[in-house]
Amino acid sequence: MARIPLVMGNWKLNGSKAFCDSLISELKTALVDVKGCNVAIAPPVMYLAQAENLLTDSKIALGAQNVDVNVQGAFTGDISPVMLKEFGAKYIIIGHSERRTYHKESNEFIAKKFQLLKDAGLTPVLCIGETEAENEAGKTEEVCARQIDAVINTLGVEAFNNAVIAYEPIWAIGTGKSATPAQAQAVHAFIRQHIAKKSSTVAEQVIIQYGGSVNDANAAELFTQPDIDGALVGGASLKAAAFATIVKAAE
Ligand code: G3P
Repeated sequence: MARIPLVMGNWKLNGSKAFCDSLISELKTALVDVKGCNVAIAPPVMYLAQAENLLTDSKIALGAQNVDVNVQGAFTGDISPVMLKEFGAKYIIIGHSERRTYHKESNEFIAKKFQLLKDAGLTPVLCIGETEAENEAGKTEEVCARQIDAVINTLGVEAFNNAVIAYEPIWAIGTGKSATPAQAQAVHAFIRQHIAKKSSTVAEQVIIQYGGSVNDANAAELFTQPDIDGALVGGASLKAAAFATIVKAAE
């Protein structure tokens, strides 16, 4: 079964009400005829309602950059999966290396978020990836397997049905130094084979995005790789023309 790639923009902590209006307006125009590729944007959560309204007549899906592990109640400042769904969000990024680092999020904590998203009918985008030191020590596969197994061991391999994995080597995030297509393909193939040990059916359908300095110049070559199913884009997603070029390269 052919997998439909997903290109998603992770705006991180960038934007304003005016920026949100202008970027989404440009993206709607540039991507009005998008086909053969699913597209999503994840603005800062403060702009979710504004983005939802702007996207109503667009094929661009709404995403979010995080969720917490409580649904409602006395949890000041938390983000509820049910409330994200209420705003029409679909793809929810969890386990981003910036949250694993700055907020000390463990694999087990992220697996809990994964469960809550599935319970709410949302699509988790599980970020995994190794540090430069782990890469140089040859530990990339060990790190990625551990991050994936935290979900499989608690929720079962079927949890990856209707879910996305974003392989984001930490040494490529925000550095302008993307993994080469061959480097990324080798890890994506490992990820798919690792899941296939439990279920070849789940492994075949799971979308595995690449993230880490994807831009309008390198996207097309990355997408020629058989196990790269789109991209999770940071910096380049803040520029309409660059992001649209990346999407069109995935079609
Ligand atoms: O989540 C995507 C992000 O980590 C990649 O950032 O700026 O390297 O595309 P960037």
